[in-house]
This record gives sequence, C-alpha cells and structure tokens, in this order.
Amino acid sequence: MTQFNHQVVWITGASSGIGEALAVAFSKAGAKLILSSRNQAELERVQSLCQGESLVLPLDVTDEAAMPALVKRAHEWQGKIDFLINNAGISQRSSCLKTDMSTYRHLFEVDVFGQIALTKLVLPIMIEQGSGHLAVTSSVAGKIGVPFRTGYSAAKHAMMGFFDALRTEVAHQSIKVTTITPGYIRTNISANAVVGDGSAYAVEDTDIRKGMSANECADVILKGLAKHKPEIAVGRGAEMHALWLKRLFPKVVFKMAAKRFHQTAAENDFK
Ligand SMILES: NC(=O)c1ccc[n+]([C@@H]2O[C@H](COP(=O)([O-])OP(=O)(O)OC[C@H]3O[C@@H](n4cnc5c(N)ncnc54)[C@H](OP(=O)(O)O)[C@@H]3O)[C@@H](O)[C@H]2O)c1
Repeated sequence: MTQFNHQVVWITGASSGIGEALAVAFSKAGAKLILSSRNQAELERVQSLCQGESLVLPLDVTDEAAMPALVKRAHEWQGKIDFLINNAGISQRSSCLKTDMSTYRHLFEVDVFGQIALTKLVLPIMIEQGSGHLAVTSSVAGKIGVPFRTGYSAAKHAMMGFFDALRTEVAHQSIKVTTITPGYIRTNISANAVVGDGSAYAVEDTDIRKGMSANECADVILKGLAKHKPEIAVGRGAEMHALWLKRLFPKVVFKMAAKRFHQTAAENDFK
C-alpha cells in the first residue's frame, strides 16, 4: 500500500499498542510520521521499527500550555500536517461508587480535553492548506455503556459527539473526519487503565488478551482512512455485533451489559 506516500501523519499515543502499530503500518505505506506520547524512549523504540522519515515529538496531551510550541514544531518539520490521529488514551476499571472525582477528571483530561485542545491547534493549519484528515480512536465503549468504565464510556461517547459535530463544520473546507471504534484489541490498555483512586489497574483482562492484534487493527484502520470513511469499526469479538444490536434493540444490549457487570464483578475485586 502506498496511498500515504509523502503524507505527514501525526499520531498521538504512538509509543504502544494501536498507535505503535499504526506508526509501523503508515511508514510502510510511505507516510512521514510525527510520533507523540509522554515516553520518549518508547517513541524512539517505535521510530526504530518504522521506515522512512519520522520525528519523535514527546507530548503529554494534558499539558495544554506546551501544545502551541509543539504544534509549531510539527508543522515546520515538513511544512504541512496531512493527518492527525488522536489516539492517546487511558481506560478505567472501577465502579462509579468507588471512583474519585479526581479520577473522572483525569480520564476526561486525557481522553477528551487533550484531543480537543490538539485538534483545535492543528485544524487552522489544515484549513490554510485546504486539506487534512482528523481522526480519533474512540471505542465500542463510545457507543455502548460498559460496566466499570463509566468515566471511559462517557469520555469516548464525548469524542464521538465532538468529532461527528466537527465533521459537519469542516466538510466544506475539504477536511475529513473519521471516528474509529475498536472492540477488544490486544494492547496494554487494561494494564494501563486506572482504578477508582487513579492508580494503575495493572492487569491484562482476558477480553484484551483474546482480542484482535494491534497490527491487524492498524491494517483495517489504514484501509478505512485511505477510503476516507467517516466511521471505522474494528474488532472481531461479540462486542462488534453489539454495535448494530444497540441501534435496533437497545434494551437487549442494556440487559447484556448489566449481566456482564455481574460476571465481571464476580471475577474481580471491584464491585
Ligand atoms: N485496546 C483496546 O481494546 C481499545 C479498544 C477501544 C479503544 N481503544 C483506544 O485506543 C487508543 C490506544 O490505546 P491502546 O489500546 O493502544 O493502549 P496502550 O497500549 O495503553 O496505549 C495508550 C497510548 O496512549 C499514550 N498516552 C497515555 N496517556 C497519555 C498522555 N497523557 N499524553 C500522551 N499520550 C498518552 C501512551 O503513551 P505514554 O505512556 O508514552 O504517554 C500510549 O502510547 C486509546 O485511545 C484507547 O482508549 C483501545
């Protein structure tokens, strides 16, 4: 695939999982990459796996004050930004009753406000160019409420709403917007998830372990982006069927999710 030849693709959350796999896949497809997340050493490891030109640009998406200078650097690197893939994110494993407000706020800082802040700074560059493609890695949890992820589901629903609304505003300026809806993908997402007090869950969930590989996921995403799809659903488990079931029979999905709450609570400490 060479659809992305000479395209400048900025990926956040590029140090691990889906972001890492996207970086490798985009580089094979001819793109020039800007790799961002907090961990510079891990970004450099990912850079070493990529072909072609790339720029490691460490960025904490919660550090809004640092963003203008980083966006300037990213823009100056090749004089354009063709894609911004808002992929950085953290998940949650804790019941509502046991989740501190500070943890909810942190989830929203990373999963919502960080993506909005960066998008707002990159959008004027794309408008000036007369082209560009914005994407966000939301989740099945951005379409369906999932137990022990009240904050995460809320954040991912917020991103669906934000980017669907943004699409309506920028379509006439030739800017494309894609929401990505992964199911269970085999990454560090559950290990890096936060529990109620904000500390790390540090467990690899069975669903994640049995999920689609990050490389397979990245291939599906690249094919969808190449076709300018507004929505890309990617995964291979029963959770993908729940997406259309929710539209047609929402009550069935609410019941299934509640049953899942009891199963998950029985298997774990969090109730
Ligand atoms: N895996 C799944 O099953 C699944 C399903 C649906 C949606 N998703 C979404 O996919 C995206 C990627 O997750 P993943 O599965 O690849 O998990 P992952 O392996 O844990 O990767 C998460 C990435 O986000 C970065 N990140 C976390 N906090 C950040 C911050 N404050 N600033 C900048 N970067 C930050 C991490 O890098 P640093 O630690 O270096 O900052 C890492 O590169 C997330 O948005 C996640 O919600 C995943």
